[in-house]
Amino acid sequence: MDIKLWREILYPYEMAVDELTLKLNNIIKECHATGEYSPIEMVTGRVKKVSSILEKCQKKNIALNNVTQKVEDIAGIRIICQFVEDIERVAKMLESRMDITVIHAKDYVKNMKPSGYRSYHMIVEYPVETLKGLQRVKVEIQIRTLAMNFWATIEHSLQYKYRSNMPEHIRERLSAASQAIISLDSEMSSIREEIMDSQNSFRIKANIVAEILNLIQNLYKVANKREIVKIQDEFYRVYKQGDIPTLEHFLRELDVIAEGYRAQGCDSHDF
Ligand code: GTP
Ligand code: MG
Repeated sequence: MDIKLWREILYPYEMAVDELTLKLNNIIKECHATGEYSPIEMVTGRVKKVSSILEKCQKKNIALNNVTQKVEDIAGIRIICQFVEDIERVAKMLESRMDITVIHAKDYVKNMKPSGYRSYHMIVEYPVETLKGLQRVKVEIQIRTLAMNFWATIEHSLQYKYRSNMPEHIRERLSAASQAIISLDSEMSSIREEIMDSQNSFRIKANIVAEILNLIQNLYKVANKREIVKIQDEFYRVYKQGDIPTLEHFLRELDVIAEGYRAQGCDSHDF
């Protein structure tokens, strides 16, 4: 194949990775904004390098003009979750999306690979609008926990180091480590509710404080200095107290003050 064609072939995959990364990150943002727990912790994406595509084609006897049909992981998205339970939730969420068509899935969480590798894989089709029109590209989505990702990252570097001759004692260590990852994930799951609660209240508090600061900032434009100083001091006092109901109460009071200024017509459209 003409070398200069690669760029043209890979461009839609780059678009797919960019768009999906953005959209999945928006799910995290949306959860944070609404104070909901996000089943997605982190998203990464990459387009396979030409050298790796060529290597794969050689290894699997794939003709270069079949690359886009036969190599399913040219575009790759990795979704990292905190808990094993999140994996299924994310998979269901992806299945129900209008912009994603699942072609097939492999559940290496339930069926661990002999190496000890665990992850949930989906091969999906995703449409991108290119200058040449709509193009559906295949994307490999890997969903795994932070702990599974830790194991896979280390094992991958060792695979790279030893190529196909990984020493037996390292293989055994990795296998033992994968058992430890299973226990770690299950321990974390057993205190999931507790962890989620504390993360959630942290986020709720951060959202309330952000709203309060926003209101105070706007009051600067309309209220007199003495009142602002009083409000500020009160905010620091309430903040030190730290509990959510007190902060919420203060926010409501502040809202009433802001409403008063709004009614007086001192409003710009900041409130
Ligand atoms: P590939 O030819 O590697 O793409 O295999 P496949 O097409 O049969 O798909 P599979 O689902 O087995 O693997 C897809 C991807 O999962 C790989 O490219 C890796 O990123 C990851 N993977 C699969 N097995 C392992 C493993 O044993 N260790 C690590 N670290 N990653 C793995
Ligand atoms: Mg693959």
